[in-house]
Amino acid sequence: MKFFIDTANLSEIREAQDLGVLDGVTTNPSLMAKEGIKGKDSVFSHYKAICDIVDGDVSAEVIATDFQGIVREGEELVEIDNKIVVKVPMIKDGVKAIKYFTQRGIKTNCTLIFSAGQAILAAKAGATYVSPFIGRIDDIGGDGMELIEQLVLIFENYGFDTEILAASIRHVPHLLQCAEIGADVVTCPLNVIMGLLKHPLTDLGLEKFLADAKKM
Ligand code: G3P
Repeated sequence: MKFFIDTANLSEIREAQDLGVLDGVTTNPSLMAKEGIKGKDSVFSHYKAICDIVDGDVSAEVIATDFQGIVREGEELVEIDNKIVVKVPMIKDGVKAIKYFTQRGIKTNCTLIFSAGQAILAAKAGATYVSPFIGRIDDIGGDGMELIEQLVLIFENYGFDTEILAASIRHVPHLLQCAEIGADVVTCPLNVIMGLLKHPLTDLGLEKFLADAKKM
């Protein structure tokens, strides 16, 4: 199971990278805006800074929604660094663009996936990753994890190479359920990754060991 961090914050990315468990980064326009990154030059240099920290794939999202625009932006983004994966929204021109990028060996992450049908389309177009948004499905009273189960089954049925990148992960149980079901990748905020460390019995046990160590 691969761990990606879902942020554009450089210090959080460094902290996850320093832990030694990070396989990549996902960003989106909202996460970039949250860091105050504005203007094409700043956006591109920020992506480069992220790529310089991590070893794995870094998803950078296109803003265009028409085929030509998506292709133009994607081709510029992959010039930044060979770790860049072009993140493309699940729309008609997005699917066409994913096919175009696939034929040229450019990695893609199809984002804003909320149904199995959308994921099948993206996989058929050759997407490297599909990003189903678990938390946002839960937010409207659905069950995001059901979608992950469906995708794991469907992708196994047909041997799709596309990886299931579970996104919009809000808490540790989301991550653990994805692990049980068999999502290929989880992308989550730093607090969820660090949340895996925590158990009160570990803290109590360590406290006792350290106290006893003084008696040794
Ligand atoms: O990777 C997608 C993710 O950033 C969306 O998360 O919490 O905004 O639904 P959230």
